[in-house]
Amino acid sequence: MAVKRVLVCGGAGYIGSHMARHLALQDIEPVVLDNLSTGHRHMVRWGRFVQADLLDTSGLDRVFSEDGPFDAVMHFCAKSLVGESLHLPYLYYQNNVAGTLNLLQAMQQHGVNKLIFSSTAAVFGQPRSSHIDEQHPTEPINPYGASKLMAERILKDAAQAYGLRSVALRYFNAAGASPDGDIGELHEPETHLLPNIFKAITGRAPAVKVFGNDWSTPDGTCVRDYVHVCDLAAAHLLALQYLEERAGAFNLNLGNGSGYSVMQVIRMASEVSGRSVPYEFAPRRPGDPAVLVASNQRAGHELGWRPAYPQLRDIVASAWKWHQDH
Ligand code: UFG
Repeated sequence: MAVKRVLVCGGAGYIGSHMARHLALQDIEPVVLDNLSTGHRHMVRWGRFVQADLLDTSGLDRVFSEDGPFDAVMHFCAKSLVGESLHLPYLYYQNNVAGTLNLLQAMQQHGVNKLIFSSTAAVFGQPRSSHIDEQHPTEPINPYGASKLMAERILKDAAQAYGLRSVALRYFNAAGASPDGDIGELHEPETHLLPNIFKAITGRAPAVKVFGNDWSTPDGTCVRDYVHVCDLAAAHLLALQYLEERAGAFNLNLGNGSGYSVMQVIRMASEVSGRSVPYEFAPRRPGDPAVLVASNQRAGHELGWRPAYPQLRDIVASAWKWHQDH
């Protein structure tokens, strides 16, 4: 493969840091760009670290001039909390749309024409089918999903006008941690289910709140499609290889195709850890759809992506291993 060095924007964050690890394991040099607004310097264990912000165009230009040349860019920088986006939409559009546009312009100026973009299941809005495939209508119900969909649209226009090659990967629920337990999921504040469960188990946070037990799902709690963060990283590299042969802007859904309710995840965490999970029911969280499950057929077909950790038990166990030590 021709790719030797990749700029990983947002590589100090949860998914980006696992991406840098995956690239390094495949002998591809990651260069990590992050503004450390939500990422962590200590998660950057592979490749050079450059502190820079996508909203600072001259800083961005310097990164491309001084730390390049890059064969491709993987773009994980984003504000990504549904609830926050409802209160702070300008922040979301500025970071996720304007920041992406700055990055694309810097890529163009420096002759980099391959991008793998972190998108999200939130572009779809309320699901109309049990498994969401790439043909599903995109009608986001919050500014976070809308901002990612706008960026996807820019990628399509850029493919047409400038020949930019891109794959937008729409993640369902990223979860788990690297199998050797060196990096994992750490947000401040923490809003995600699995970290909150483990914080409750280890006494680092009060009982986990289950947001709603009156949804129209089998046990009344929300159903999600949890996908291992290392499987997401593997899909990114496959997507980059895919672009070697093809021009255009592509979208692919990344999930395991199986849904688990919040209560099922809590029970699995209890089984895996051998501890009881303190939890309590709380009102529904604004912006949450009841069910989100991917069809991953196209990613399998187009990329040859076969998740290595499709079982919820393995996903939860890898997260528990990391949380015990952190
Ligand atoms: N949940 C709880 N208690 C918690 C945290 C979460 O009950 O303390 C529930 C949520 O209500 C949801 C499920 O657990 O039903 C998963 O919640 P997360 O916050 O872990 O993840 P989200 O489903 O909100 O987020 C994911 C992706 C986003 C995407 C979103 C679409 O991470 O990128 O789905 O709704 F936008």
